[in-house]
Amino acid sequence: MPIKRKTPAKQATPKTRSAKIAGNGAGNGHSSSSRPLLTLEVSPSISPRNKITIPQFHGPVPPGFLHPGSAISVSHFTLEDVGSILEEASELEAMPAARRALRYAKRRVALLFYESSTRTRTSFELAAKSLGADTALVSALSSSIEKGESLKDTGITLRSLGAECIILRHPNSGAPYLLARSTGLPILNAGDGSHEHPSQALLDLRTILAHLPPSARSTAKRNHSIGDRALQGVTVTIVGDILHSRVARSNALLLPRLGARVIFCGPEVLLPECAAAIGPGVEIERDFERALKQSNVVMMLRIQKERLAGLEIDLEDYIEQYQLHMHRLAAHAPAAIVLHPGPVIRGLEITGEIADGPNSAIAEQVYHGSIIRMALLGRALDAHPKRNEQSSKNR
Ligand code: CP
Repeated sequence: MPIKRKTPAKQATPKTRSAKIAGNGAGNGHSSSSRPLLTLEVSPSISPRNKITIPQFHGPVPPGFLHPGSAISVSHFTLEDVGSILEEASELEAMPAARRALRYAKRRVALLFYESSTRTRTSFELAAKSLGADTALVSALSSSIEKGESLKDTGITLRSLGAECIILRHPNSGAPYLLARSTGLPILNAGDGSHEHPSQALLDLRTILAHLPPSARSTAKRNHSIGDRALQGVTVTIVGDILHSRVARSNALLLPRLGARVIFCGPEVLLPECAAAIGPGVEIERDFERALKQSNVVMMLRIQKERLAGLEIDLEDYIEQYQLHMHRLAAHAPAAIVLHPGPVIRGLEITGEIADGPNSAIAEQVYHGSIIRMALLGRALDAHPKRNEQSSKNR
């Protein structure tokens, strides 16, 4: 199925940069996830007694295991859940701002960020405010986390202050499960280590659906639901640092369930052979130009220096083989849309011309992020009794 093209891409010569980088894995003082982890690493913010194993179940969350308003892994969503999140997002998008601001007026949402963020943090915060909710931001560097307070105690403190939902970004894979277990609140995973970034995969899905030709779009969303053929015929190539990417993982777990073919592309050091075992519908192609020829969507990823933990990448060689530049795109995938979760490192994985060019849907992704995050917040707060209802129960 072809993806709608905006205007023809222009030819350009690629820019190159020469350097060697290696991650030290120390980053912000927390131990870093240098490989796809299934077991939570212990960091100063997580006490050893709280070390947990990431649950490996697919499908709806078992009753009592997590708060039903949580969004920790895309694998917990049924296709019906995905359809209703997309529907709710469109409903909230179309709603007059004044009406939307009454929807969750005075509900309390906490943002708990142990890692830096621009898009996810701002869009969750603005989404909560546009729904009328009160927000409180706690960052690792300006809170008692700096003094050694654990994730568990921080979560319990936020709950005692009235938080009805916590949005968590954390460098350790699995941290949202620990917070969910400690607080019993709905937890929205805003990115945990190399594990998952579910709201990013949903906003990427919404962006891809918006670029399908109108006939395919209505088939994809027939009867207000989304089916396992919604992305049939769409090939999405994800390029670069797959090993450390929670965005790649969430997309690879979600998009094939809707019929998309996902190609992982990158050098072995950033894309081990075992990555294709993540699930059906995912393949590996090391040759970027061969992958591009098959692509309707190209998702470029940043090299995550903060998670390289000793791995060495020859940047000159990487740019030569894997940078997306105009010449490459025009020659091999002129009609493809280009996605990037950000932050974009211009001149490394992608040129400025591509990021600003006619194939780029990067700014659109950010817009879809704010809409999807409103729907996720609504889902979380709907599943959680209002504070006054809780306190009347406790009386
Ligand atoms: N896509 C994404 O997670 O961006 P931020 O790190 O800026 O939130």
